[in-house]
Amino acid sequence: MEISNFKRSEQLLERALKVTPYGVHSMARSTLTSGKVSGFPIQCPKFFNKAKGSRVFDVDGNQYTDNLLGLGPIILGHCHPGVNEFVKEQIEKADMFGANSEIEVELSEKIVKNVPCAEKVILLNTGTQANTMAVRMAKSYTGREKVIRFEGHYHGYWDWSLFDRVPVGKWRYAGISKKVVEENIILPWNDLDLVERFLKDYGNEIAAIICEPIVFNCNAIMPEPGFLEGLRKITKDYGIVLIFDEVVTGFRVSLGGFQSKFGVIPDLAAFGKAIGNGYPIAALAGKKEIMETRSYYGGTFNSHPFCVAASLATITELEKPGVYKYIYDIGETIIKGLRDAIEDTGIEAIVQGVGSCFAITFTELKKIKNYQEAHMPSVIPHDIRAVVFYQEMIKRGILNNVANGFRWCICAAHTKEEASKTIEIAEEAFKKAKKVILSSQ
Ligand SMILES: Cc1ncc(COP(=O)(O)O)c(C=O)c1O
Repeated sequence: MEISNFKRSEQLLERALKVTPYGVHSMARSTLTSGKVSGFPIQCPKFFNKAKGSRVFDVDGNQYTDNLLGLGPIILGHCHPGVNEFVKEQIEKADMFGANSEIEVELSEKIVKNVPCAEKVILLNTGTQANTMAVRMAKSYTGREKVIRFEGHYHGYWDWSLFDRVPVGKWRYAGISKKVVEENIILPWNDLDLVERFLKDYGNEIAAIICEPIVFNCNAIMPEPGFLEGLRKITKDYGIVLIFDEVVTGFRVSLGGFQSKFGVIPDLAAFGKAIGNGYPIAALAGKKEIMETRSYYGGTFNSHPFCVAASLATITELEKPGVYKYIYDIGETIIKGLRDAIEDTGIEAIVQGVGSCFAITFTELKKIKNYQEAHMPSVIPHDIRAVVFYQEMIKRGILNNVANGFRWCICAAHTKEEASKTIEIAEEAFKKAKKVILSSQ
């Protein structure tokens, strides 16, 4: 039976709009909540009240296979018994101290053991905090003030990181001072020549280069062969701190993040999301000499025992043999199934990414290498096909972020049966989407 009743969701949205700006506590949630995607209306759930394993339940009693997975944190499955039991034990012992606890040392040791760049670690609450501290430490260490970022990468909602050169909507810049903007240089992704030419003139003014090693905030763009290796070399040549934002990749593409799977080691790396399987914890890890520059970090709730317990239990589970292999097997089965379905239906779409996290982009391009390609005028008409595709998926009980090119996540609780069902439903959804005549055709 198709899912079509979102009555209670709509009623709650009415109430929420009266007391919360735009009805959301994070604008990253507004694609589902607004009921409009790329200007097209979509019927979707807006409020949820239960999550277990690979499934989420909305307030109207509909249930879904969840590929949104909290926007990335859920790696073991929702309400994982091992994680929740350990958190409960901690809750019985103590809430918090405003002082050090034993388990935070244990967790830091685990991160140092698993993450190649980690000589030292600090435990924070959000990815935004971890990236912001990384940039501050890089500035303090180098005595320089400018930072290179890349188009389409997302590093959190703080002033330094939000401004982009590309047209992502004026509201993104509201309230951000020009001075902060001037400290940021934003370059296209995957163009090493351009970075080299830029650094020839300005290399001695740059404190840090920060990037998402796989751009999961923009069509799951992979680094071109040699690009990150080139960034690693050139940052060393100019004494620039290389920061990997591993908030999505960390503990998701592998236990030690992108750097341990792909072998390019940054100076500093920010972690969040999957490090805590749904609990609000983040970490900044990196070289001792940079982490101990006396840049100030505070945070009443940093290394909060409940979250530290969740993270310890999560990493302990992830260390068990076979967990990542299972997640990748499921993800790669779905990727293959989606690609076959795309070929069979003849729709213009591609799938990029890796087994644990990937994105479908509706486009006539065969590959997307940077933000400009993802948003070129010829791609925009395809957005309507994404809306039709995701509408069909929701109706049949598969939940994703509904935007064109947004990531799908896989967790250890997804089953082989769910993978097959997802492929079957996606094939039907591609067929419906293919029927939409693009305005440029
Ligand atoms: C790559 C990346 N970095 C940083 C952040 C910000 O993390 P948080 O929302 O925990 O502040 C996000 C959030 O989606 C992200 O995707």
